[in-house]
Amino acid sequence: MDTMAGLKRSIQCGILTTRFEGQEVTVCGWAARRRDHGGLIFIDLRDRSGIVQLVFSPDINEEAFRKAESVRSEYVLAVRGIIRRRDPGTVNPQMPTGEIEISGLELRVLNTAKTPPFYIQDSVDVDENLRLKYRYLDLRRPEMQENIILRHRVAKLMRDYLDQHGFLEIETPMLTKSTPEGARDYLVPSRVNPGKFYALPQSPQIFKQLLMVSGMERYFQIARCFRDEDLRADRQPEFTQLDIEMSFIDREEILTMMENMIAHIFRGALNIEIPVPFTRLSYQDAMDLYGSDKPDLRFDMKFIDLTQVVKGSDFKVFETVLNEGGQVKAINVKGYAHIPRRELDGLVSYVGNYGAKGLAWICYTEEGIKSQITKFFPENMVENITRTAEAQQGDLLLIIADKPDVVAAALGQLRLEMARRLNLIDADKLSFLWVIDFPMFEYDPEEKRWVAMHHPFTSPRDEDVQFLDTDPGRIKAKAYDMVLNGTEIGGGSIRIYGRELQEKIFKAIGLTKEEALEKFGYLLEAFEYGTPPHGGIAFGLDRLIMLMAKRSSIRDVIAFPKNQSAIDVMMQAPSDVTARQLKELHIKSEVIKKQ
Ligand code: AMO
Ligand code: AMP
Repeated sequence: MDTMAGLKRSIQCGILTTRFEGQEVTVCGWAARRRDHGGLIFIDLRDRSGIVQLVFSPDINEEAFRKAESVRSEYVLAVRGIIRRRDPGTVNPQMPTGEIEISGLELRVLNTAKTPPFYIQDSVDVDENLRLKYRYLDLRRPEMQENIILRHRVAKLMRDYLDQHGFLEIETPMLTKSTPEGARDYLVPSRVNPGKFYALPQSPQIFKQLLMVSGMERYFQIARCFRDEDLRADRQPEFTQLDIEMSFIDREEILTMMENMIAHIFRGALNIEIPVPFTRLSYQDAMDLYGSDKPDLRFDMKFIDLTQVVKGSDFKVFETVLNEGGQVKAINVKGYAHIPRRELDGLVSYVGNYGAKGLAWICYTEEGIKSQITKFFPENMVENITRTAEAQQGDLLLIIADKPDVVAAALGQLRLEMARRLNLIDADKLSFLWVIDFPMFEYDPEEKRWVAMHHPFTSPRDEDVQFLDTDPGRIKAKAYDMVLNGTEIGGGSIRIYGRELQEKIFKAIGLTKEEALEKFGYLLEAFEYGTPPHGGIAFGLDRLIMLMAKRSSIRDVIAFPKNQSAIDVMMQAPSDVTARQLKELHIKSEVIKKQ
């Protein structure tokens, strides 16, 4: 193996073009590919910037040529050579450096490499756990490097924007006390305080509010958050927020500033102009029209409410649902009246996954209406349905009757599924929206109590505070979510800043006075020392980057993520610890097996 002694890297591979023709350069990187053409050896050399072709010939340099023969995939090389224009027939227009090559004068093999467990190239089709086990190799792939570079750029653009607007970047503790973001906490035992535990923060929520009490006025942090919840493609046990809080502002100011920040980020990182202001939808409208508080508005297909229209039919299913206060809603899948019967039957089980007990359909075919239910309807009812749904020949109505939450969930998922199947989603479209006017509380039937829908520091709307004792369900909160293409990328609220109201909210979610004091006494106390009106928001940085990079999992934009079972496959964490470590922590461990 060789060293770098006397050789200095002069330039990156990926930026070389005909502009450099005739120059001597020294490049370093990994051998992506080697091809032997009898008297010539070609090596594609890859560094972070891209790939350049090296060519070695015994006529140019015998020693370099001999060494090139020994090079295998992923060997680490340093090469001194001359930039040459390629023969017109060998130009590769797919490669940014495809018009040139480096004629090798000197080759040093800085390190060898075992054959990697998968190809270091884009769109590899390998099991993700293998990629995660060899994450350092996975991250060598150009598309993964692009994701990480994009992430860096976005973080920088965020910092720049917020700095320009007077925000201070302030760190808050990792070893802290449980906060009520709604997931389970990760706990850390304390050695010096036997039997006591820290909680890792689910978010810096309370700290950032206390920073407002401190007079910091504008705070931000790119903060790691920890939530022990079931994982999905857009959920990790530890993830990153761009966390923001401001004093002396109202909702309008925050929403406007955040829209402009997002526009700044997309302009700077992707050269895309995002139109502001964003569309706004109330939570109620979002649920009524799309069955989701994070609707994907890249396509239309709104819900059609048929509840009034189908009243009084002979269809028992609908009548029962209506008598129990349920709804009948439909989507109009334009131009899909010829849906195969087998697919229709499949859709029934599809909506079944989301709790729907059935699915009715009306196909407006050339030969007339085909449906399993219209026979139960008087003729004018069918006409009414057609008119309400604006159905035309060729259309397919899919109808679900059920309790409102089941209709929302099942028809909402069906809407997305039909859009995917019929390719209605333009992958290049960016559809931003604010969802506002969330309910303050939702009822948890398991715990038989009201829980805060956002978090209990969120301010109710002033005009709704009067219903706290009588009708908590009708209170709307000063909360807002930013949604991009059907993913919630951020959420925040205007906060409570007075002790009395905060205590009332704690009471409404079932905390006794003692519990409220034990958990949040310091916050209640702080509220008595001159707290400014304030509010804020937190963005899921991983989710935002995932969407910007057009990936379907946040794992692809996190350098070292956990897998679906919350395991770091490379390090094998979590892992056993020694008896001695446990003893130092005053902990006795006994794993209780689930029955
Ligand atoms: P919230 O709980 O809505 O608000 O979180 C803010 C944003 O963080 C992202 N997010 C996640 N991303 C990846 N994995 C997860 N497990 C995960 N959980 C949440 C989402 C979400 O919109 N303290 C409040 C913010 C505030 O009120 O200012 C909070 O944490 O994109
Ligand atoms: P059933 O009377 O249960 O055999 O249902 C008759 C038809 O109505 C079947 O095609 C079902 O898929 C459909 N159906 C049943 N329940 C519902 C419902 N809640 N909403 C919409 N369609 C339904």
